[in-house]
Amino acid sequence: MDWNNRTVVITGATTGIGKATKDLLRAGGAKVYCLDIVEASDDDAAYFIYCDVRIMQSVADAIHRVYEKEKKIDMLFANAGIHFLGSIEDTDEESLHNVIGVNVLGVFHSLKSVLPIMKKQQRGSIVLTGSDQCFIGKASSAAYGLTKGAIGQLTKSTAVEYAAYNIRVNCICPGSINTPFLDRVIDQFAAANQMNVQEVQSIFEKDQPLGRIGQPAEIAAAVAFLLSDESAFTTGSLLSVDGGYVAQ
Ligand SMILES: NC(=O)c1ccc[n+]([C@@H]2O[C@H](COP(=O)([O-])OP(=O)(O)OC[C@H]3O[C@@H](n4cnc5c(N)ncnc54)[C@H](O)[C@@H]3O)[C@@H](O)[C@H]2O)c1
Repeated sequence: MDWNNRTVVITGATTGIGKATKDLLRAGGAKVYCLDIVEASDDDAAYFIYCDVRIMQSVADAIHRVYEKEKKIDMLFANAGIHFLGSIEDTDEESLHNVIGVNVLGVFHSLKSVLPIMKKQQRGSIVLTGSDQCFIGKASSAAYGLTKGAIGQLTKSTAVEYAAYNIRVNCICPGSINTPFLDRVIDQFAAANQMNVQEVQSIFEKDQPLGRIGQPAEIAAAVAFLLSDESAFTTGSLLSVDGGYVAQ
């Protein structure tokens, strides 16, 4: 796919999966805007917009700035997300609201801001970041899991409603991927279970049938496919890229 002249917005593109996708699409020639609360020191400031996805106005303003400059938005990767580890009893109100705020409301705000533009264009491609937890449950993951279950549903309802406007919406469902997010999960899991980090790392590797943790670039490649015209007849789908984890 030729990415030249494509305008892409990615939320949460400073580190991890969002960054890998930003790098891949930019290498192909796309103009990629990074909406994030943290600016990467080595990034092109012209394409960074401060945006807290939890706040509707923050997202609306950021999308408006991109549209004013580019006069179009071809693609959205609504990817910003945080983790929360803990049982229901251990989940305090503030943490619950925060994880729902970033992972669910953040994606909803992004859709609400971009869909009117894509509707006017009669064209658009959107990818939301789900998780293996779109399909399965994990212990100590009720709050995070509910947010990713919601993303699976949001993918399907949005895809069905906006197909009439030639807008496609799909969901990428990563397994355990080598990012700062996973490092934090492993550290917390180790502390909660009195294990060392290497032991937890090895459990996470063995849990995935391919026997290893995935790389952000492997998710970026699948996201690029879903965003691009190569997947022109695909909408409302949840694509697992998880070393076979949910196939078990
Ligand atoms: N890494 C994994 O193992 C894994 C597995 C399944 C799903 N995911 C999902 O992938 C997505 C990306 O995760 P990652 O592993 O790359 O994590 P990461 O922590 O490396 O990156 C998350 C990005 O989101 C940004 N962000 C956080 N809060 C924000 C906010 N309020 N507004 C705007 N930006 C914000 C961060 O600054 C960062 O750039 C998340 O939705 C996560 O749930 C990750």
